Amino acid sequence: MNTVMPLSEAEARVENLRPILHKHNYLYYVLDAPEIPDAEYDKLFQELLALEAQYPALQRIDSPTLRVGAPPLKLFPQVTHVVPMLSLDNAFSDQAVRDFDARVRDRLQGQGQEGQGQVLVYSCEPKLDGLAVSLLYENGVFVQGATRGDGTTGEQITENLRTVLAIPLVLEVEEGESFPRVLEVRGEVFMPKAAFLALNQQAEAKGEKRFANPRNAAAGSLRQLNSHITAKRSLGFFAYALARVEALDVALWEEGIGKTHSQQLEQLRKWGFPVSPEVKVVQGAEGCLDYFASMQKKRVHLPYEIDGVVYKVDSLALQAILGFVSRAPRWAIAHKFPAEEMLTEVLDVEFQVGRTGALTPVARLKPVFVGGVTVSNATLHNMDEVQRKDIRIHDIVVVRRAGDVIPAVASVIFDQRPKNAKQVQLPAHCPVCGSDVEKLEAEAIARCTGGLGCRAQCKQSISHFASRRAMYIDGLGEKLIEVLVDKGLVKSVADLYVLEASALATLERMGEKSAEKIIQAISVSKKTTFAKFLYALGIREVGEATALSLSRHFKDCDAIRHASIEALQEIPDIGPIVAVHIHTFFKQPHNLEVISRLLKEGIEWPVSVTDQENGHAEHSEIMGKTFVLTGTLNTLSREEAKERLIALGAKISESVSKKTHYVVVGDAPGSKRTKAENLGVPILEEAEFLKLLAE
Ligand code: IVH
Repeated sequence: MNTVMPLSEAEARVENLRPILHKHNYLYYVLDAPEIPDAEYDKLFQELLALEAQYPALQRIDSPTLRVGAPPLKLFPQVTHVVPMLSLDNAFSDQAVRDFDARVRDRLQGQGQEGQGQVLVYSCEPKLDGLAVSLLYENGVFVQGATRGDGTTGEQITENLRTVLAIPLVLEVEEGESFPRVLEVRGEVFMPKAAFLALNQQAEAKGEKRFANPRNAAAGSLRQLNSHITAKRSLGFFAYALARVEALDVALWEEGIGKTHSQQLEQLRKWGFPVSPEVKVVQGAEGCLDYFASMQKKRVHLPYEIDGVVYKVDSLALQAILGFVSRAPRWAIAHKFPAEEMLTEVLDVEFQVGRTGALTPVARLKPVFVGGVTVSNATLHNMDEVQRKDIRIHDIVVVRRAGDVIPAVASVIFDQRPKNAKQVQLPAHCPVCGSDVEKLEAEAIARCTGGLGCRAQCKQSISHFASRRAMYIDGLGEKLIEVLVDKGLVKSVADLYVLEASALATLERMGEKSAEKIIQAISVSKKTTFAKFLYALGIREVGEATALSLSRHFKDCDAIRHASIEALQEIPDIGPIVAVHIHTFFKQPHNLEVISRLLKEGIEWPVSVTDQENGHAEHSEIMGKTFVLTGTLNTLSREEAKERLIALGAKISESVSKKTHYVVVGDAPGSKRTKAENLGVPILEEAEFLKLLAE
């Protein structure tokens, strides 16, 4: 079926296809609201490609087919910017923003404008961390694109910019409206976080160099002489300024595009440019600072990197009065987020012991201000992680703290490794109780074998037992548990139920009233549900969901104790590993003794109280859902992530299937991500995952 269409017919079809493809591209990349399936778009695209191949004369400069790239260039021609591309002054503190606002008002007053007393209106925008570009449209058609260069002269990268699908090749106009004869738009090309991770993963697989950050990746992609390479990179674009417009519809001008920056952005949207949905008009410096705080919170959840926000005096008339100083406008300022990565020294590495005896290496750091707080400790997760990153004592390391997440050591600066750098050794004995430490081949985690005889494990297990979702002993916090264990008043959870108020009252900073209150809370906790009791026991890998399953299948602890590993495995959600953990737990005489004492002290679960009534239905987004984890997370180890999910009632699986509810992807995720995509299983990037945990 390779019939050749006559030229006249082909011309008519090409004229028809071009706007259709532009429209669907716009719906997809700018409005995020596609109307036709991808396959349908591809079909139309292929049709246009074939017609243009047949009749090359039919290809025009605004053809969507040019988006796939053009023949490679030898070098980029230079472009002189008619309107210079300026940079911005920076502010690093709230006070610097207030000073900026005061300066602006002062200057306006000096120029005969209202100033001092006046509250100025600002347009606030995210400061995108990409590459500034200038786009030129003549009679509605994209004809030239350039980098900023030195602000006066840049490089012409038209072919490359044509491959950025969010950049319109032709402007959108309403019926009866005409195109401006000349339009120059400024904005930022950036690489979304997900595309950056995928690109680095590919680079790694091919043994090529990774890009340091999405900005470098965006710049590297745009400055390719071969635009076919640029076309393969997923790049985004947001317009943030109108630099020049000539022969514009009078009506548009009168509607206000000549009055304020925010109205100009609105007009850019109408012409088909993507403009950040985060742009907001606010009043005065305080409005700007509120915006800063809200964007700081939003930052991790955005699909692209921002390194701060930009405040611009909204009135164009006032902008003109304020003018420029050297290369930056007086009417705008960039308020930068505190650096998320800083260098510091590892002073020492110590080991913390958790509830199940897990030994976690923790780096003691020379205090450093990063991500807005002073950081002096960072978890190193486990020994495999220490070895993978090759972290040594006295190394200079990159410490990262993004958003509200836990600080982490991202990498070592090997060039600066001092001679006295010392390798981290896993201790042979528990640093708290001196028991042997064991590390099984198959596990990343080393454990203290001291069990509840180890004070650290004992404290943590009491803390878990008393926690809100377990027995919920109100007021029994970590500090108090620490004192109770150190003073020998409590050796296991069973001892809590024989505590006397008089003994408690002798503790430092503990009055009679508070002591009574705690005893009361301990007593109240006796009435619970079987599921909560099982969860409170802290059996390895038995989170709320598994505890609930167990409670539905067995009437009491004795019944579980007598169940075989095989029988346990028949229960939904219980796999071979968890079955062994449960079986082993109920074989330990010490555990049985604690359980028997607890029951003797009066812990009971009235049958009439269902677990749903007790709040087990909460956490529905996590509770009972199956998660698969893949790739390296930046803020917590895979083990930690698993433990937190299990504690919230999730099930963890090693492989992706249709039954998987979520796949959590870190860096270098591998085939599980692709499988999830193919099966349509929702994917959670690290930021979204953390948000879900926090919720
Ligand atoms: S306005 C005259 N708005 O920041 C003002 N710039 O340091 C010119 N940038 O080169 C820039 N987001 O690459 C402006 N919303 C935004 C921005 C933004 C990122 C970049 C841009 C510029 C640099 C200035």
